[in-house]
Amino acid sequence: MATNKARVKSVEESIRDTEEPEHQLKKNLSALDLTVFGVGVIIGTGIFVLTGVVAKDTAGPAVALSFVVAGIVCGLAAICYAEFASTVPVAGSAYTFSYATLGELVAWIIGWDLVLELALGGATVAVGWSGYLNQLLGDLGLALPTSIAGDEATVNIPAIVIVAVMTAVLVLGIKLSSRVTSIIVAIKVAIVLLVIVVGLFYVKAANYSPFIPPAEPTETGSGWTAPLIQTLFGFAPSTFGVGGILAGAAIVFFAFIGFDVVATAAEETKEPSRDLPRGIIGSLVICTVLYVAVSLVVVGMQQYTELSTAAPLADAFRSVGLPFLSGAISVGALAGLTSVVMILMLGQSRVLFAMSRDHLLPPALASVHPRFGTPYKITIITGAFVAVLAGFIPLDVLAELVNIGTLFAFVLVSIAVIVLRRTRPELPRSFRVPLVPFVPALSALASIYLMLNLPGDTWARFGAWMLLGFVVYFLYGRGRSRFSQRGAAERAAAGQRAGGER
Ligand code: ALA
Repeated sequence: MATNKARVKSVEESIRDTEEPEHQLKKNLSALDLTVFGVGVIIGTGIFVLTGVVAKDTAGPAVALSFVVAGIVCGLAAICYAEFASTVPVAGSAYTFSYATLGELVAWIIGWDLVLELALGGATVAVGWSGYLNQLLGDLGLALPTSIAGDEATVNIPAIVIVAVMTAVLVLGIKLSSRVTSIIVAIKVAIVLLVIVVGLFYVKAANYSPFIPPAEPTETGSGWTAPLIQTLFGFAPSTFGVGGILAGAAIVFFAFIGFDVVATAAEETKEPSRDLPRGIIGSLVICTVLYVAVSLVVVGMQQYTELSTAAPLADAFRSVGLPFLSGAISVGALAGLTSVVMILMLGQSRVLFAMSRDHLLPPALASVHPRFGTPYKITIITGAFVAVLAGFIPLDVLAELVNIGTLFAFVLVSIAVIVLRRTRPELPRSFRVPLVPFVPALSALASIYLMLNLPGDTWARFGAWMLLGFVVYFLYGRGRSRFSQRGAAERAAAGQRAGGER
Protein backbone atom coordinates (compact mmCIF):
# COMPACT_ATOMS: atom_id res chain seq x y z
CA MET A 1 0.00 0.00 0.00
CA ALA A 2 1.37 3.42 -0.97
CA THR A 3 0.64 4.92 2.43
CA ASN A 4 2.57 2.17 4.12
CA LYS A 5 5.56 2.73 1.92
CA ALA A 6 5.55 6.42 2.70
CA ARG A 7 5.09 5.68 6.43
CA VAL A 8 2.47 8.34 7.03
CA LYS A 9 1.30 8.44 10.65
CA SER A 10 -2.40 9.18 10.83
CA VAL A 11 -3.63 12.26 12.64
CA GLU A 12 -5.64 10.00 14.98
CA GLU A 13 -2.51 8.00 15.80
CA SER A 14 -0.61 11.19 16.59
CA ILE A 15 -3.33 12.40 18.90
CA ARG A 16 -3.68 8.97 20.58
CA ASP A 17 0.03 8.93 21.40
CA THR A 18 -0.35 12.15 23.35
CA GLU A 19 -2.83 10.48 25.66
CA GLU A 20 -0.48 7.87 27.11
CA PRO A 21 -0.02 8.75 30.79
CA GLU A 22 3.78 8.58 30.82
CA HIS A 23 3.96 10.94 27.86
CA GLN A 24 1.36 13.46 28.89
CA LEU A 25 2.19 17.12 29.21
CA LYS A 26 0.20 19.47 31.47
CA LYS A 27 -2.46 21.52 29.69
CA ASN A 28 -2.09 25.00 31.10
CA LEU A 29 -1.89 27.58 28.35
CA SER A 30 -4.55 29.96 27.00
CA ALA A 31 -4.62 32.00 23.76
CA LEU A 32 -3.24 34.98 25.67
CA ASP A 33 -0.39 32.89 27.12
CA LEU A 34 0.43 31.71 23.61
CA THR A 35 0.42 35.22 22.17
CA VAL A 36 2.72 36.36 24.97
CA PHE A 37 4.92 33.33 24.25
CA GLY A 38 4.98 34.28 20.59
CA VAL A 39 5.95 37.89 21.26
CA GLY A 40 8.45 36.61 23.84
CA VAL A 41 10.32 34.58 21.27
CA ILE A 42 9.88 36.78 18.21
CA ILE A 43 11.18 40.15 19.44
CA GLY A 44 14.93 39.78 19.94
CA THR A 45 18.24 40.14 18.17
CA GLY A 46 16.47 40.85 14.92
CA ILE A 47 15.01 44.20 15.83
CA PHE A 48 17.65 45.16 18.41
CA VAL A 49 20.62 44.47 16.13
CA LEU A 50 19.80 43.60 12.52
CA THR A 51 17.84 46.81 11.83
CA GLY A 52 21.13 48.74 11.91
CA VAL A 53 23.09 46.17 9.95
CA VAL A 54 20.57 45.93 7.12
CA ALA A 55 19.87 49.68 6.91
CA LYS A 56 23.52 50.53 6.76
CA ASP A 57 24.77 47.82 4.43
CA THR A 58 21.88 46.55 2.35
CA ALA A 59 18.64 48.52 2.18
CA GLY A 60 19.06 52.05 3.60
CA PRO A 61 15.93 53.61 5.16
CA ALA A 62 13.93 51.12 3.08
CA VAL A 63 14.85 48.53 5.72
CA ALA A 64 11.26 49.13 6.83
CA LEU A 65 10.18 47.63 3.50
CA SER A 66 12.49 44.66 4.09
CA PHE A 67 10.53 44.09 7.29
CA VAL A 68 7.27 44.34 5.35
CA VAL A 69 8.44 41.76 2.78
CA ALA A 70 9.71 39.35 5.45
CA GLY A 71 6.49 39.91 7.41
CA ILE A 72 4.38 38.96 4.37
CA VAL A 73 6.38 35.77 3.78
CA CYS A 74 5.96 34.88 7.45
CA GLY A 75 2.27 35.80 7.40
CA LEU A 76 1.65 33.33 4.57
CA ALA A 77 3.53 30.62 6.46
CA ALA A 78 1.77 31.55 9.71
CA ILE A 79 -1.69 30.81 8.32
CA CYS A 80 -0.44 27.43 7.09
CA TYR A 81 0.93 26.67 10.56
CA ALA A 82 -2.35 27.86 12.06
CA GLU A 83 -4.42 25.45 9.95
CA PHE A 84 -2.16 22.57 10.88
CA ALA A 85 -2.00 23.42 14.54
CA SER A 86 -5.79 23.58 14.67
CA THR A 87 -6.07 20.16 12.98
CA VAL A 88 -3.19 18.24 14.60
CA PRO A 89 -2.77 19.69 18.10
CA VAL A 90 0.26 17.61 18.96
CA ALA A 91 3.69 18.76 20.20
CA GLY A 92 6.37 18.93 17.54
CA SER A 93 5.06 21.52 15.09
CA ALA A 94 6.41 21.07 11.56
CA TYR A 95 7.78 17.64 12.50
CA THR A 96 4.38 16.31 13.55
CA PHE A 97 2.60 17.96 10.61
CA SER A 98 4.99 16.32 8.17
CA TYR A 99 4.59 12.89 9.79
CA ALA A 100 0.84 13.15 9.27
CA THR A 101 1.14 14.06 5.60
CA LEU A 102 4.43 13.49 3.88
CA GLY A 103 5.61 10.48 5.88
CA GLU A 104 8.32 9.45 8.30
CA LEU A 105 11.38 10.29 6.22
CA VAL A 106 10.27 13.85 5.56
CA ALA A 107 9.21 14.16 9.21
CA TRP A 108 12.63 13.04 10.37
CA ILE A 109 14.30 15.42 7.93
CA ILE A 110 12.23 18.31 9.19
CA GLY A 111 12.86 17.39 12.84
CA TRP A 112 16.56 17.29 12.06
CA ASP A 113 16.26 20.60 10.21
CA LEU A 114 14.49 22.27 13.13
CA VAL A 115 17.65 21.82 15.22
CA LEU A 116 19.07 24.58 13.01
CA GLU A 117 16.21 26.92 13.84
CA LEU A 118 15.77 26.12 17.50
CA ALA A 119 19.02 24.93 19.08
CA LEU A 120 21.31 26.92 16.82
CA GLY A 121 18.99 29.93 16.99
CA GLY A 122 18.92 29.68 20.80
CA ALA A 123 22.71 29.51 20.93
CA THR A 124 23.06 32.49 18.58
CA VAL A 125 20.77 34.63 20.69
CA ALA A 126 22.54 33.50 23.91
CA VAL A 127 25.81 34.78 22.44
CA GLY A 128 24.08 38.07 21.56
CA TRP A 129 22.79 38.23 25.15
CA SER A 130 26.31 37.88 26.45
CA GLY A 131 27.41 40.74 24.17
CA TYR A 132 24.67 43.05 25.46
CA LEU A 133 25.43 42.11 29.06
CA ASN A 134 29.07 42.94 28.66
CA GLN A 135 28.24 46.24 27.03
CA LEU A 136 26.05 47.17 29.99
CA LEU A 137 28.66 45.99 32.49
CA GLY A 138 31.17 48.05 30.54
CA ASP A 139 29.00 51.17 30.97
CA LEU A 140 29.19 50.51 34.72
CA GLY A 141 32.95 50.01 34.54
CA LEU A 142 32.64 46.28 35.27
CA ALA A 143 33.27 44.73 31.85
CA LEU A 144 34.25 41.06 31.83
CA PRO A 145 37.42 40.10 29.91
CA THR A 146 36.65 39.48 26.22
CA SER A 147 38.09 35.97 26.52
CA ILE A 148 35.07 34.93 28.64
CA ALA A 149 32.25 37.16 27.38
CA GLY A 150 30.94 38.75 24.18
CA ASP A 151 30.99 37.59 20.57
CA GLU A 152 34.67 36.66 20.39
CA ALA A 153 35.10 34.83 23.69
CA THR A 154 37.06 31.59 23.89
CA VAL A 155 34.64 30.28 26.51
CA ASN A 156 31.50 32.37 26.64
CA ILE A 157 30.60 32.15 30.34
CA PRO A 158 27.53 34.46 30.42
CA ALA A 159 26.04 32.61 27.42
CA ILE A 160 26.47 29.29 29.22
CA VAL A 161 24.97 30.70 32.42
CA ILE A 162 21.87 32.14 30.74
CA VAL A 163 21.25 28.84 28.93
CA ALA A 164 21.62 26.91 32.20
CA VAL A 165 19.24 29.18 34.11
CA MET A 166 16.61 29.07 31.37
CA THR A 167 16.90 25.28 31.19
CA ALA A 168 16.14 25.12 34.91
CA VAL A 169 13.06 27.32 34.45
CA LEU A 170 11.85 25.07 31.62
CA VAL A 171 12.27 21.93 33.73
CA LEU A 172 10.29 23.45 36.58
CA GLY A 173 7.19 23.84 34.48
CA ILE A 174 5.53 25.49 31.57
CA LYS A 175 3.38 27.71 33.76
CA LEU A 176 6.47 29.11 35.45
CA SER A 177 8.10 29.56 32.06
CA SER A 178 5.04 31.41 30.89
CA ARG A 179 5.05 33.65 34.01
CA VAL A 180 8.71 34.50 33.48
CA THR A 181 7.90 35.21 29.83
CA SER A 182 5.00 37.52 30.70
CA ILE A 183 7.21 39.74 32.84
CA ILE A 184 9.95 39.85 30.23
CA VAL A 185 7.50 40.51 27.41
CA ALA A 186 5.97 43.42 29.33
CA ILE A 187 9.44 45.01 29.73
CA LYS A 188 10.40 44.31 26.13
CA VAL A 189 7.21 45.68 24.57
CA ALA A 190 7.34 48.75 26.84
CA ILE A 191 10.87 49.50 25.63
CA VAL A 192 9.90 49.03 21.99
CA LEU A 193 6.90 51.36 22.43
CA LEU A 194 9.16 53.87 24.17
CA VAL A 195 11.51 53.82 21.19
CA ILE A 196 8.60 54.45 18.83
CA VAL A 197 6.86 57.18 20.84
CA VAL A 198 9.90 59.14 22.05
CA GLY A 199 11.84 58.54 18.85
CA LEU A 200 9.04 60.07 16.76
CA PHE A 201 9.89 63.50 18.20
CA TYR A 202 13.43 63.21 16.88
CA VAL A 203 12.67 62.06 13.36
CA LYS A 204 14.07 64.33 10.63
CA ALA A 205 12.53 64.15 7.18
CA ALA A 206 15.96 64.67 5.62
CA ASN A 207 17.07 61.26 6.95
CA TYR A 208 14.46 59.58 4.77
CA SER A 209 15.97 60.84 1.59
CA PRO A 210 16.82 58.90 -0.38
CA PHE A 211 14.37 56.36 1.07
CA ILE A 212 15.55 53.68 -1.35
CA PRO A 213 19.19 54.52 -2.04
CA PRO A 214 20.18 53.82 -5.67
CA ALA A 215 21.57 50.34 -6.32
CA GLU A 216 25.34 50.09 -6.09
CA PRO A 217 27.60 47.30 -7.28
CA THR A 218 29.00 45.21 -4.41
CA GLU A 219 32.66 44.34 -4.14
CA THR A 220 32.13 41.26 -2.05
CA GLY A 221 29.56 38.72 -3.03
CA SER A 222 31.08 36.43 -5.56
CA GLY A 223 31.11 32.64 -5.76
CA TRP A 224 30.18 30.99 -2.49
CA THR A 225 29.47 34.18 -0.58
CA ALA A 226 27.02 35.57 -3.15
CA PRO A 227 23.29 34.92 -2.81
CA LEU A 228 22.51 31.66 -4.57
CA ILE A 229 19.99 33.40 -6.82
CA GLN A 230 22.81 35.53 -8.17
CA THR A 231 25.14 32.60 -8.77
CA LEU A 232 22.40 30.55 -10.43
CA PHE A 233 20.72 33.19 -12.56
CA GLY A 234 23.57 35.67 -12.99
CA PHE A 235 21.86 38.70 -11.43
CA ALA A 236 24.43 41.51 -11.17
CA PRO A 237 25.53 41.88 -7.56
CA SER A 238 24.18 45.04 -5.97
CA THR A 239 23.33 46.50 -2.62
CA PHE A 240 20.54 49.02 -2.01
CA GLY A 241 17.87 49.55 -4.63
CA VAL A 242 15.02 47.07 -4.89
CA GLY A 243 17.47 44.15 -4.82
CA GLY A 244 18.76 45.47 -1.50
CA ILE A 245 15.26 45.50 -0.02
CA LEU A 246 14.79 41.84 -0.97
CA ALA A 247 18.24 40.74 0.18
CA GLY A 248 17.57 42.66 3.40
CA ALA A 249 14.30 40.77 3.81
CA ALA A 250 16.20 37.46 3.80
CA ILE A 251 18.32 38.78 6.68
CA VAL A 252 15.66 40.51 8.81
CA PHE A 253 13.62 37.34 8.42
CA PHE A 254 15.53 36.28 11.54
CA ALA A 255 13.55 38.88 13.48
CA PHE A 256 10.32 36.98 12.78
CA ILE A 257 11.55 33.54 13.69
CA GLY A 258 9.58 32.14 16.58
CA PHE A 259 5.89 32.49 15.73
CA ASP A 260 6.04 28.90 14.54
CA VAL A 261 7.41 27.84 17.94
CA VAL A 262 3.96 28.59 19.36
CA ALA A 263 2.76 25.45 17.55
CA THR A 264 5.24 23.31 19.49
CA ALA A 265 3.30 24.07 22.69
CA ALA A 266 0.16 22.49 21.20
CA GLU A 267 -0.22 19.77 23.80
CA GLU A 268 0.13 22.22 26.65
CA THR A 269 -2.74 24.36 25.38
CA LYS A 270 -6.19 24.12 26.96
CA GLU A 271 -8.15 24.52 23.72
CA PRO A 272 -5.57 24.07 20.99
CA SER A 273 -7.81 24.13 17.96
CA ARG A 274 -9.12 27.58 18.84
CA ASP A 275 -6.17 29.09 20.68
CA LEU A 276 -3.20 28.03 18.57
CA PRO A 277 -4.24 29.95 15.43
CA ARG A 278 -4.93 32.99 17.61
CA GLY A 279 -1.55 32.74 19.32
CA ILE A 280 0.41 32.20 16.09
CA ILE A 281 -1.25 34.89 14.00
CA GLY A 282 -1.75 37.35 16.87
CA SER A 283 1.89 37.38 17.91
CA LEU A 284 3.07 37.73 14.32
CA VAL A 285 0.76 40.67 13.59
CA ILE A 286 1.79 42.51 16.78
CA CYS A 287 5.48 42.06 16.05
CA THR A 288 5.24 43.06 12.38
CA VAL A 289 3.52 46.33 13.28
CA LEU A 290 6.12 47.06 15.98
CA TYR A 291 9.03 46.21 13.67
CA VAL A 292 7.92 48.43 10.83
CA ALA A 293 7.30 51.31 13.26
CA VAL A 294 10.64 50.89 15.06
CA SER A 295 12.65 50.67 11.87
CA LEU A 296 10.95 53.76 10.41
CA VAL A 297 11.67 55.73 13.58
CA VAL A 298 15.29 54.61 13.89
CA VAL A 299 16.23 55.43 10.29
CA GLY A 300 14.41 58.76 10.74
CA MET A 301 16.47 59.63 13.82
CA GLN A 302 19.87 59.01 12.26
CA GLN A 303 21.22 58.92 8.71
CA TYR A 304 21.36 55.26 7.73
CA THR A 305 25.06 55.62 6.97
CA GLU A 306 25.70 56.57 10.60
CA LEU A 307 23.71 53.79 12.29
CA SER A 308 25.45 51.46 14.71
CA THR A 309 25.56 47.84 13.60
CA ALA A 310 25.97 46.51 17.16
CA ALA A 311 23.24 48.36 19.07
CA PRO A 312 21.40 50.63 16.59
CA LEU A 313 18.38 51.45 18.76
CA ALA A 314 20.40 52.44 21.81
CA ASP A 315 22.86 54.33 19.64
CA ALA A 316 20.19 56.34 17.82
CA PHE A 317 19.07 57.74 21.18
CA ARG A 318 22.63 58.51 22.20
CA SER A 319 23.03 60.39 18.90
CA VAL A 320 20.10 62.71 19.70
CA GLY A 321 21.41 63.45 23.20
CA LEU A 322 19.32 60.98 25.24
CA PRO A 323 21.94 58.62 26.70
CA PHE A 324 19.76 57.58 29.67
CA LEU A 325 17.18 56.18 27.25
CA SER A 326 19.96 54.38 25.49
CA GLY A 327 20.76 52.59 28.79
CA ALA A 328 17.09 51.67 29.25
CA ILE A 329 16.99 50.20 25.74
CA SER A 330 20.04 48.06 26.47
CA VAL A 331 18.36 46.71 29.63
CA GLY A 332 15.19 46.03 27.61
CA ALA A 333 17.19 44.23 24.93
CA LEU A 334 18.92 42.11 27.54
CA ALA A 335 15.61 41.15 29.13
CA GLY A 336 14.11 40.58 25.71
CA LEU A 337 16.80 38.22 24.53
CA THR A 338 16.39 36.12 27.70
CA SER A 339 12.92 34.98 26.74
CA VAL A 340 13.98 34.33 23.14
CA VAL A 341 16.66 31.91 24.37
CA MET A 342 14.20 30.22 26.70
CA ILE A 343 11.40 29.73 24.20
CA LEU A 344 13.63 28.55 21.36
CA MET A 345 14.91 25.88 23.76
CA LEU A 346 11.34 25.09 24.76
CA GLY A 347 10.50 24.53 21.10
CA GLN A 348 13.58 22.37 20.59
CA SER A 349 12.78 20.17 23.57
CA ARG A 350 9.18 19.67 22.41
CA VAL A 351 10.26 18.66 18.89
CA LEU A 352 12.82 16.19 20.27
CA PHE A 353 10.18 14.96 22.73
CA ALA A 354 7.80 14.18 19.88
CA MET A 355 10.60 12.44 17.95
CA SER A 356 11.54 10.25 20.94
CA ARG A 357 7.92 9.40 21.59
CA ASP A 358 7.80 8.12 18.02
CA HIS A 359 11.01 6.16 18.77
CA LEU A 360 12.96 7.97 16.05
CA LEU A 361 15.21 8.91 18.97
CA PRO A 362 15.65 6.78 22.12
CA PRO A 363 12.17 6.56 23.72
CA ALA A 364 13.47 6.82 27.29
CA LEU A 365 14.18 10.48 26.59
CA ALA A 366 10.47 11.22 26.22
CA SER A 367 9.50 10.58 29.83
CA VAL A 368 7.72 13.36 31.65
CA HIS A 369 8.65 14.47 35.17
CA PRO A 370 6.02 13.13 37.63
CA ARG A 371 5.72 16.39 39.52
CA PHE A 372 6.59 19.16 37.07
CA GLY A 373 4.83 17.60 34.07
CA THR A 374 7.64 18.60 31.72
CA PRO A 375 9.85 16.44 29.49
CA TYR A 376 12.79 17.06 31.80
CA LYS A 377 15.35 14.66 30.31
CA ILE A 378 15.06 16.04 26.82
CA THR A 379 14.99 19.60 28.19
CA ILE A 380 18.26 19.07 30.06
CA ILE A 381 19.90 17.48 27.02
CA THR A 382 18.71 20.38 24.87
CA GLY A 383 20.11 22.85 27.43
CA ALA A 384 23.48 21.09 27.51
CA PHE A 385 23.69 21.03 23.70
CA VAL A 386 22.77 24.72 23.36
CA ALA A 387 25.22 25.64 26.15
CA VAL A 388 28.07 23.88 24.35
CA LEU A 389 27.18 25.57 21.05
CA ALA A 390 26.88 28.99 22.68
CA GLY A 391 29.86 28.59 24.99
CA PHE A 392 32.51 27.14 22.75
CA ILE A 393 31.69 27.40 19.05
CA PRO A 394 32.16 30.54 16.99
CA LEU A 395 28.67 31.18 15.72
CA ASP A 396 28.90 33.99 13.22
CA VAL A 397 29.04 31.59 10.28
CA LEU A 398 26.64 29.01 11.64
CA ALA A 399 24.03 31.63 12.47
CA GLU A 400 23.10 32.02 8.81
CA LEU A 401 21.94 28.44 8.89
CA VAL A 402 19.13 29.43 11.24
CA ASN A 403 17.29 31.33 8.51
CA ILE A 404 17.67 28.67 5.83
CA GLY A 405 16.62 25.93 8.26
CA THR A 406 13.49 27.81 9.29
CA LEU A 407 12.52 28.72 5.74
CA PHE A 408 12.86 25.09 4.71
CA ALA A 409 10.41 24.11 7.46
CA PHE A 410 7.97 26.76 6.17
CA VAL A 411 8.18 25.31 2.66
CA LEU A 412 7.34 21.82 3.87
CA VAL A 413 4.51 22.92 6.14
CA SER A 414 2.96 24.93 3.28
CA ILE A 415 3.11 21.93 0.97
CA ALA A 416 1.76 19.69 3.72
CA VAL A 417 -1.37 21.86 4.04
CA ILE A 418 -2.22 21.11 0.40
CA VAL A 419 -1.47 17.40 0.87
CA LEU A 420 -3.62 17.02 4.00
CA ARG A 421 -6.55 18.80 2.32
CA ARG A 422 -6.38 16.13 -0.42
CA THR A 423 -5.73 13.09 1.74
CA ARG A 424 -7.99 13.95 4.71
CA PRO A 425 -10.55 16.51 3.52
CA GLU A 426 -13.02 15.46 6.23
CA LEU A 427 -10.86 16.31 9.27
CA PRO A 428 -12.26 19.11 11.40
CA ARG A 429 -10.21 22.26 10.83
CA SER A 430 -11.16 25.10 13.10
CA PHE A 431 -8.87 27.39 11.13
CA ARG A 432 -8.66 27.12 7.34
CA VAL A 433 -6.17 28.73 4.95
CA PRO A 434 -8.15 30.64 2.31
CA LEU A 435 -7.85 29.82 -1.42
CA VAL A 436 -6.11 26.46 -1.15
CA PRO A 437 -3.95 25.46 -3.03
CA PHE A 438 -3.11 28.99 -4.20
CA VAL A 439 -2.14 30.57 -0.85
CA PRO A 440 -0.04 27.66 0.49
CA ALA A 441 1.70 27.39 -2.89
CA LEU A 442 2.47 31.10 -2.78
CA SER A 443 3.76 30.64 0.76
CA ALA A 444 6.11 27.86 -0.32
CA LEU A 445 7.37 29.90 -3.29
CA ALA A 446 7.90 33.02 -1.15
CA SER A 447 9.97 31.04 1.36
CA ILE A 448 11.99 29.42 -1.44
CA TYR A 449 12.63 32.87 -2.88
CA LEU A 450 14.05 34.13 0.42
CA MET A 451 16.16 30.97 0.70
CA LEU A 452 17.62 31.72 -2.74
CA ASN A 453 18.67 35.12 -1.45
CA LEU A 454 21.00 33.44 1.06
CA PRO A 455 24.65 32.83 0.18
CA GLY A 456 25.89 29.70 -1.60
CA ASP A 457 28.08 28.62 1.33
CA THR A 458 25.06 28.66 3.64
CA TRP A 459 23.35 26.31 1.19
CA ALA A 460 26.39 24.03 1.18
CA ARG A 461 26.44 23.80 5.00
CA PHE A 462 22.71 23.25 5.03
CA GLY A 463 23.11 20.41 2.51
CA ALA A 464 25.85 18.81 4.62
CA TRP A 465 23.72 18.95 7.79
CA MET A 466 20.74 17.41 6.02
CA LEU A 467 22.91 14.66 4.54
CA LEU A 468 24.10 13.77 8.02
CA GLY A 469 20.43 13.61 9.01
CA PHE A 470 19.73 11.03 6.29
CA VAL A 471 22.59 8.86 7.52
CA VAL A 472 21.38 8.98 11.14
CA TYR A 473 17.85 8.09 10.06
CA PHE A 474 18.86 5.04 8.08
CA LEU A 475 21.29 3.87 10.76
CA TYR A 476 18.98 4.42 13.74
CA GLY A 477 15.41 5.63 13.37
CA ARG A 478 14.10 3.71 10.38
CA GLY A 479 14.33 0.27 11.95
CA ARG A 480 13.32 1.30 15.46
CA SER A 481 10.54 3.79 14.83
CA ARG A 482 7.28 3.11 16.58
CA PHE A 483 5.56 3.28 13.23
CA SER A 484 7.59 0.39 11.84
CA GLN A 485 7.24 -1.57 15.11
CA ARG A 486 3.51 -1.17 15.47
CA GLY A 487 3.14 -4.20 13.34
CA ALA A 488 1.86 -4.82 9.90
CA ALA A 489 -1.08 -6.79 11.31
CA GLU A 490 -2.59 -3.85 13.19
CA ARG A 491 -2.14 -1.59 10.21
CA ALA A 492 -3.50 -4.11 7.75
CA ALA A 493 -6.53 -4.69 9.97
CA ALA A 494 -7.16 -0.98 10.16
CA GLY A 495 -6.76 -0.77 6.40
CA GLN A 496 -9.29 -3.53 5.87
CA ARG A 497 -11.78 -1.90 8.20
CA ALA A 498 -11.38 1.42 6.40
CA GLY A 499 -11.74 -0.39 3.06
CA GLY A 500 -14.91 -2.10 4.26
CA GLU A 501 -16.47 1.19 5.34
CA ARG A 502 -15.85 2.85 2.00
N1 ALA B 1 13.17 36.37 16.27
C1 ALA B 1 14.16 36.13 17.23
C2 ALA B 1 15.12 37.24 17.33
O1 ALA B 1 15.03 38.19 16.58
C3 ALA B 1 14.85 34.84 17.00
O2 ALA B 1 15.98 37.20 18.18
